[in-house]
Amino acid sequence: MKILVTYFSETGNTRKVAESIGEAVKVSTDDVVVAPLSDVDPDSLAGFDAAFVGSTCHSADIAAPVKEFLSRIPANYSALKLAGFVTHSTTMPEGDDWKKEMHERWAGKCPSSFERACADKGIKFLGYFSCQGAPSPELETFIRESIIPDEKQWKAYIEVARQHPTEEDMEAARTFTRSMLAKC
Ligand SMILES: Cc1cc2nc3c(=O)[nH]c(=O)nc-3n(C[C@H](O)[C@H](O)[C@H](O)COP(=O)(O)O)c2cc1C
Repeated sequence: MKILVTYFSETGNTRKVAESIGEAVKVSTDDVVVAPLSDVDPDSLAGFDAAFVGSTCHSADIAAPVKEFLSRIPANYSALKLAGFVTHSTTMPEGDDWKKEMHERWAGKCPSSFERACADKGIKFLGYFSCQGAPSPELETFIRESIIPDEKQWKAYIEVARQHPTEEDMEAARTFTRSMLAKC
């Protein structure tokens, strides 16, 4: 199997997850390319059995360059399979209703965007992985002022968010990778 792991990452969180996915793929095959999205021509996907495509989360969705990349995959690559992954600053949905609501509001569009892009191209969608990624200092200011003004809630959120992606996230990404490869 020949596998592509490609990602759009502005501050490094998604790149770290991509590297973990690449490591897990290497256990199964040496035929793996890990590269930023800007280095990958969508036409070259015909040469791969499966692609893991990663994005930073923007406006609750995958980022515009990733959408554009997916839209440029030729429609006749029906043998290709695709898995999506994202890092987002919002909470994971597990835990309580607030986390679930925050996740839906701020990252809720990501899985369906991957799914829709695959359906548009007749590509098999394998699955989706996400984890938190530390927000940049500028984003921290925005989140604190506009999204989580409550001091207690902010402290609880940011102490956790700053640590991501954690080693546990990387291990979850490797587990996800193995299950996606098993579907190939
Ligand atoms: C312009 C901009 C918009 C963002 N919008 C969201 C958002 O809607 N939801 C979210 O959870 N995170 C949002 N983020 C945070 C990033 O998705 C998050 O920090 C991610 O881990 C960054 O990944 P990267 O380091 O690979 O670029 C946004 C970041 C930027 C710069």
